[in-house]
Amino acid sequence: MTIAFLNGEFLPLEHAQISPMDRGFLFGDGIYEVVPTLGGKPVGLAWHLERLNDGLTALDITNPNSDEAWTQLINQLVAQNAEGLNSDSVGVYIQVTRGTVMQRAHGFPENVTPTVFAFAFASAAPPVPDREKVKVFSVITAQDRRWQRCNIKSTSLLGNVLHYQQGNEAGKQETILYNDAHEITEASACNIFIVRDGEIMTPPQDNQILPGITRRIVIESLARDGMQVTQQPITLEQLRNADEVWLTSSSKEIAPVTIVDDKAVGDGNVGAMWLKAITSFNKYKFEW
Ligand code: PDD
Repeated sequence: MTIAFLNGEFLPLEHAQISPMDRGFLFGDGIYEVVPTLGGKPVGLAWHLERLNDGLTALDITNPNSDEAWTQLINQLVAQNAEGLNSDSVGVYIQVTRGTVMQRAHGFPENVTPTVFAFAFASAAPPVPDREKVKVFSVITAQDRRWQRCNIKSTSLLGNVLHYQQGNEAGKQETILYNDAHEITEASACNIFIVRDGEIMTPPQDNQILPGITRRIVIESLARDGMQVTQQPITLEQLRNADEVWLTSSSKEIAPVTIVDDKAVGDGNVGAMWLKAITSFNKYKFEW
């Protein structure tokens, strides 16, 4: 039985209920976070809480908790579900919506209490730091059809859901997206890195991509080990000619992509830079 948290109360997930008049349900008017934990320890917690606060500020929703209160809630959910989930890798999903109002109107209501919902779930084990044994990914590419504010971790995920499904229906695990200028943005639920001739590149942080916490940890960890990541526009052409392609997210950490649109990436094997990146990432990932 999964123990969840809803508006101040811990309860079995199947008993958690909200009103259909919640603005999260009616409008997707809310922010979410996914905080990974390993062996009970959160990865990038301070940066996840910072992004949650930034998202709430962007939507003009008052953050209902201090960082200390969020930290305590995350730790409690992990502890209370440790036995039930029986996994070293546990994700904590947090959602804050603008709240419930008994009248459907687009404008922000006044004096409404945000809805706070959170639950813990067992997630996939982190990638094995071994070029032969790590799980590899196949992806397709597609034109990015989402909205112009992808830097906000909004619960309005229909665009992402449709792009994920596109890849899924093609028998692939992700869909890498490109904008009108044929520059890579991100994937439906991951950020993107490529390697070409030893240079590691990732698209710049702007409104077209989520400020991924894993992306940030990868950049900082590599920098600590003396490797630079160039943040610059990456064309579809560059993606197709890359030696390595990686997906990054809280649940995947750094996942090597070996097939893009049915064509092998580089020589088709997991690259040497990926191993350097995951090694640095593992060294520092609990530090932020
Ligand atoms: N997805 N880009 C998008 C569109 C995402 O949804 C995610 C995360 C990322 C990677 O962000 P981070 O490294 O902070 O997890 C990039 C989460 C895990 C999800 O929606 O389940």
